[in-house]
Amino acid sequence: MCGIVGYIGHRDAYPIIVKGLQRLEYRGYDSAGIALFDGEDIKISKTKGKVEDLKQKAEVANNLTGNLGIGHTRWATHGVPNDVNSHPHYSNSGDLVIIHNGIIENYDTIKKALTKRRYTFESDTDTEVLINLIEEVKKKEGVKLGKAVQIALNEVVGAYAIAVFDRQKPDEIVVAKLGSPLAVGIGENEYFIASDASPFIEFTNNAVYLEDEEMAIIRLGKEIKLRKIKDDAIAYPDVLELKLNLEEIEKGGYDHFMLKEIYEQPRAILDTYRGRLLPDQGLVKMAGLDQHIEKFLNANRIIIVACGTSWHAGLVAEYIFEDLARIPVEVEYASEFRYRNPVITHNDVVIAISQSGETADTLAAIKLAKERDAFVFGVCNVVGSSISRETHAGAYTHAGPEIGVASTKAFTTQITVLTLIALKIAKEKGEFSASKFHEFLTELENIPGKVEKALDSNNIVEEVANVYKDSSNCLYLGRGYNFPVALEGALKLKEISYIHAEGYPAAEMKHGPIALIDDQMPVFVIATKKGHYEKVVSNIQEIKSRKGKIIAIVTEGDETVKSLADHVIEIPETIESLTPLLTTIPLQLLSYHIAVMRNCNVDQPRNLAKSVTVE
Ligand code: F6R
Repeated sequence: MCGIVGYIGHRDAYPIIVKGLQRLEYRGYDSAGIALFDGEDIKISKTKGKVEDLKQKAEVANNLTGNLGIGHTRWATHGVPNDVNSHPHYSNSGDLVIIHNGIIENYDTIKKALTKRRYTFESDTDTEVLINLIEEVKKKEGVKLGKAVQIALNEVVGAYAIAVFDRQKPDEIVVAKLGSPLAVGIGENEYFIASDASPFIEFTNNAVYLEDEEMAIIRLGKEIKLRKIKDDAIAYPDVLELKLNLEEIEKGGYDHFMLKEIYEQPRAILDTYRGRLLPDQGLVKMAGLDQHIEKFLNANRIIIVACGTSWHAGLVAEYIFEDLARIPVEVEYASEFRYRNPVITHNDVVIAISQSGETADTLAAIKLAKERDAFVFGVCNVVGSSISRETHAGAYTHAGPEIGVASTKAFTTQITVLTLIALKIAKEKGEFSASKFHEFLTELENIPGKVEKALDSNNIVEEVANVYKDSSNCLYLGRGYNFPVALEGALKLKEISYIHAEGYPAAEMKHGPIALIDDQMPVFVIATKKGHYEKVVSNIQEIKSRKGKIIAIVTEGDETVKSLADHVIEIPETIESLTPLLTTIPLQLLSYHIAVMRNCNVDQPRNLAKSVTVE
């Protein structure tokens, strides 16, 4: 978590850093800060709050010159969010300045050792400890900044993406990475540093993504030099040409990124299967999968590891893989899997799902699975992310940047990729006749149009949101393929509108949650025609007899549920295993509208951050 930005070159650093921080606010937004260096003076402004608060504070200070600058937007780990704990942090001499994304786990031991050497600390952060460790090494060893950073990092345990500069070296920034992302944008005699490429995409398309345990000394007028932190070996930068464009990372007329991303889903799903889904040829093609298809065909079982919304996509995939491809599947929270000594064999295929590709728990689960000899396949959205590099093979979702903290298009595109994989395996295993396979591919091809129609429910959903916006609790029910959608609907509501919500398999209701139902309890029920329709209708009856309010997501034209429910929201008909791609749409819209009506910060909900790069 936390976003970092840096600049060194011929332009004023201030506007680049501030705009860059605004683009990275999805990574953390409880405090922000900036340091500018004009070759003589270092000016630091920092504040609790958002980048907008920082701007106001910094602009009052009114001395914002400097061609070198670093900035930070924080998601607190060590120390509460306040002005003092905000980054950047100075060393005791006032010469070294740092920004840091990550956690230094042994900071307390280092702090005690430094305190004995008369170092003092203003903040409660691990980052201030790190910059003073670098200062101590620099003095004691008589080395330059780059070497001091390297020696210090060999003493720390934890995760970091850091940028450091030294008052004595006005043309240099030193950066290093372990576990947290760090990209360097390369312009004409200028360099940009950021947690992802969004802060510098309008200036350059050329970027280097540092690997774990790499550092770089970025010096004006010199080519970027990479080194391995452990053994000082030289690493050769792989300069990528980025395809990202500015439009993709701006709101494009929508009030919020979340709404834009909900509406982008028809395009995002299409982009995800484009070139991979070939109904005319009766084929599914996916380079990462095709090369390793034997691993899947010979798999004892598939283990899916993920967190949050991506875990919900994994649950949908469990139904798809077992139903279509007849492979046993287990879906695990990455955070539990990594710590519970799981039984994994070389015949297991592990699929790791992650929008950001940076989630620390998912990354750790992958490393564990690899150590135990499993084949690990990644499903990520962010190209070049840590998870996409750590896995043996993988397939990208092509959702485009997802900036709203609540995941929407990532979920539907993950399901799209996982469906393609299941279809391919089912075909190869002979589970499908050619005609059934063709029917499936054709229907998947129709999904973007059907999502478009599901989005037409927006006005009805807004009316429903208006009725239930002041509820304190909500229940979400679904069965089969739509049970994970119920979980996802509840998560969306909780995280952006702060209303307590629970998702349940509809039949489980009678084993406990039914006690909660009274005339104040809205119950969102996914009751589409395919699957266990009659059973869900019975569950609806049970809720009705206890006076619960029923809001049902139904297949268009449904009259039975309409006669029972307080509100119905229609979606187009499709094959049962593809329904999650449609039923999830009104639930995303519902949480969006409720959050807006409750004046919540939709794109940056409290206490959350987009990529969770800490445990
Ligand atoms: C919820 C949400 C989170 C993420 C989770 C995993 O809307 O966004 O629950 O799904 O933090 O993130 P990724 O997919 O980046 O690994």
